[in-house]
Formats: sequence, structure tokens, C-alpha cells
Amino acid sequence: MSEAELPIELDRESSVSLAAQVANQLRAAILSGILQPEHTLPATRRMASDLGISRGVVVRAFEQLSGEGFLESSGAGGTRVAVRPDIQRPPKKEQYPNRGTETADQIDLTPGRPSGSPFKDREWRNAWKKAISEQGNTHLPPALGTVELRKAVAGHLAVSRGLAVEPEDVIITGGTSDALHLIVSMLRTGGANPRILLEDPGYPRARSVMRAAGAQLQTVPVDEDGLRTSQLAALEDIPDAVLITPSHQYPLGGRMTVQERLGLLKWADQHNVLVLEDDYDSEFRHSRMPLPAVAALPTNAEVVLLGTFSKNLSPWLRSGYLVVRGESGRGLKALREALDTPVAGVLQSALAHYIQAGGLSRHITRARREYSHRRALLIDRLGTRQDLELGALEGGLHAVIRFREPNATALAAEALKKGVRVIPLAGYYADRPPVNGLVIGYGAVTDLQLSEALNVLGNLLDAGPVAED
Ligand SMILES: Cc1ncc(COP(=O)(O)O)c(C=O)c1O
Repeated sequence: MSEAELPIELDRESSVSLAAQVANQLRAAILSGILQPEHTLPATRRMASDLGISRGVVVRAFEQLSGEGFLESSGAGGTRVAVRPDIQRPPKKEQYPNRGTETADQIDLTPGRPSGSPFKDREWRNAWKKAISEQGNTHLPPALGTVELRKAVAGHLAVSRGLAVEPEDVIITGGTSDALHLIVSMLRTGGANPRILLEDPGYPRARSVMRAAGAQLQTVPVDEDGLRTSQLAALEDIPDAVLITPSHQYPLGGRMTVQERLGLLKWADQHNVLVLEDDYDSEFRHSRMPLPAVAALPTNAEVVLLGTFSKNLSPWLRSGYLVVRGESGRGLKALREALDTPVAGVLQSALAHYIQAGGLSRHITRARREYSHRRALLIDRLGTRQDLELGALEGGLHAVIRFREPNATALAAEALKKGVRVIPLAGYYADRPPVNGLVIGYGAVTDLQLSEALNVLGNLLDAGPVAED
């Protein structure tokens, strides 16, 4: 009898008690057929620890549902879903139905999609109520960002990254893409197309945005630990800027040591290279302590830190920030003012209220727990397989699996037919021979969906090479 992985999400700000929320969601799962009579529920102790609540809350929810006849105790076998002929359940779905195209019930493991939970929290709604009540404002928002949000970002960076930042050093952006566009435009001010050095593999959108903005790209092959000083020393052409993901190499997942960070800064200072630190998800560390940001290390080199709300809140907000200093900082601010392309005032205001009320840090704490739980599920299901290497697990909301066979593109196509969207690792490489593997985003799916998706992937890996059509 299979034990259920339960798709429960709790809203700690809700006026509905936690026990009632657990009971309501279990009841809904039974009525909709997600939980079937053969399903055994996890032990109350385990479920309580998974959900981060006390065991008494789970016991109360189980008692409520047993009283209603939805659950029954099977002695030492635990608690299971009761057989209720009076309940019309939808027929149990074929486990992996064929779905050729994207559908609403597709399990999407595209990386970069975070948990949707912040939008359910009361602090988020309160922040928007306050922001909307300020709509009497009739002026344009300031091009560099509102004072309140710049202060809130500086405060958040102090707490979450140990970074001493003055609000005047912060520019509010429409996310990393907007920030990269601004940086390339600033470097173009002299006339020539700037040369930017990038890690390979790396973030494909960073490449496409910078190319579209007029940069010439130069890539260096890296492993999970990112760029090495020895690679920089061997470069024949010195770039104008270097874009790095030192805290969590994207997508391979390791990090640059402090030694390598200092080496990079020394090289950047010697050659007058602008360092662009993409600090996209450093709040989500699962095992080791975070290292200081490159922007926090002592140096005469100029460093721009790029932050985003896409991972710690939602890409739907399309917003982020830059931390700038020195000559490049003055150039970036002057250009931003001249272009007058600010982020919507109402969004900035809501974000500022949310951060100041502590909503963002509480959401990050909750999301970190959610992600570590799913990461544990991934390790549990794939970690012991001899035919693959599981990586990028130290932080963030995605993992990488590398394997010899089958071909990852063919495997992803087969998985899509079975309702699971995964992205081949090869797509992250600019011009190096691609490595066979997949990038698995686990931020936006429930435990149950992740578990189903891992079954599909496990079966496809077991089946070996995929026949070409
Ligand atoms: C490496 C990296 N940097 C930054 C971002 C965020 O970009 P944006 O702020 O434009 O959404 C992502 C999103 O997936 C990313 O993977």
C-alpha cells in the first residue's frame, strides 16, 4: 500500500486554524481523487515535522477527518483513507497519461520558478492595500527608485547578506535583464561595443539580453566552482566587464572560494575590469554557510551587485535592484536618470511596505524550509542511483542531474509526452560541447508533483536510450 506524499500548503497568516487547514486540504484531496482508499497517510510525527507544525495539530486534523469518516486507523499500519462507496470520486488517473502539448496539469520543472506562497500571505495583501491608498500621487516615480524601497533593500541586504549598503548605492530595476541592459548601455557610452566575459555554462537570458544590448560576449568554460584566477590570467583579450555567479554557479551550483574571489578582484583591479556579481538566489542555502558577497570584499576594483525579486518573491513582479559604487556607479545612476525608465511606483511602494513589515524575510524562511524538503526528496529518490550524478544541491531551487544515457533532449521530449517538463543542461552552454544532463527546478511544484515527476524521470532513465522517431 503506497504512502501518500501530501500536497499541503499552510498559510500561517490565515484566520483559519492550522488543524482546520490540514483537515480541509486532506478532505479536498480525498474528494478530488488525489488520495485514494489504498493510500496510507504519513505518521503524524513525520507529517508534523515535514510541515513545520506541532504533532498535536496533525492529530487534531486526523481526528476531525476520522470523525467525518474520511480516514480510518489501520492499527500498527497507520492511518489510511477510508473506503466510502457514498463518495463519487473521479476515476483514478492513468498514472502518466500521454500529453503531447502543454496542459494545465503538466508538472513543470523549468528552473527559476519559485514557490507561489508569498501571494497568499496577509502581509503581502496589506502591503498592496497601503500601496494602493497612496495612488493619489500624481508625479512620476524617481528613476533610481523610491527612497523607501532603496532603504528597504539596503536593510534587507544587511540582514540577509551582511552587506553594508547605503540606500543611495541602490538602483531599483525591472530585474536582472533590465539591469544588464543598463550596464551594457553604460559601457557603450564611449562608443565601442563592450566586451563581456561570461561563465560557460551560464544563464542563457543574460547572454541574449547583453548581446541584444550591443555587447560582444566572450565565454570561459567553468565547472561548478565557477571562474578560476588561472583562467583569467591566461586570457589574451581583456574584457570590459565580467559577469559571475560566485555564490551559486548557474546552473551547475557550486561556489567560488574566498581565495578565488580575491584573485578575481585583484585581476579586475589590475586590468580595470568591471565585476558584475549576479547574486540571484543566495538567500536559499541548504547546507553550508554563505560566503561574503564579492561586493563586500576589500578591493579597489569596481563591483556591481545584481539582485532580483524573481527568486525570493516572484518573477511576475519583474523587479530587482543594483548595488553600485564608484565611477561605474555614478555612470549607471546618471544613465538611469537620463533614460528615465523607472519601475512602477505602486509596485515599489508595495515591495517597500512588505520588506519593512518583515514579510520578505518571513517568506524566505518558509520558502527555504519548503525547498529543503523537496531537495531531500530529490536526494532520497535519485541520490543512490549509480547511473547519474546529482548536483547543484547546496542552495537555490534547482538541481542538476548528469548521466551518460539516454540522450537528455530525447529524454526531455519523452518526459513531456508523459506530462513532465524538464530542461536539458545543454541549453545552458554557449559554445562548449554540451554535457548530457537535465536541470530540475523544484521551486514551484508540490511535493506530490515532484514525486510523480521523479517517477517519470526514473522510469525513463531505467529504460535507457530513447528510440529516435
Ligand atoms: C542566473 C540568474 N540570474 C538572475 C535571474 C533573475 O533574472 P530576472 O531578475 O531578470 O528575472 C535568474 C532567473 O532565472 C537566473 O537564473
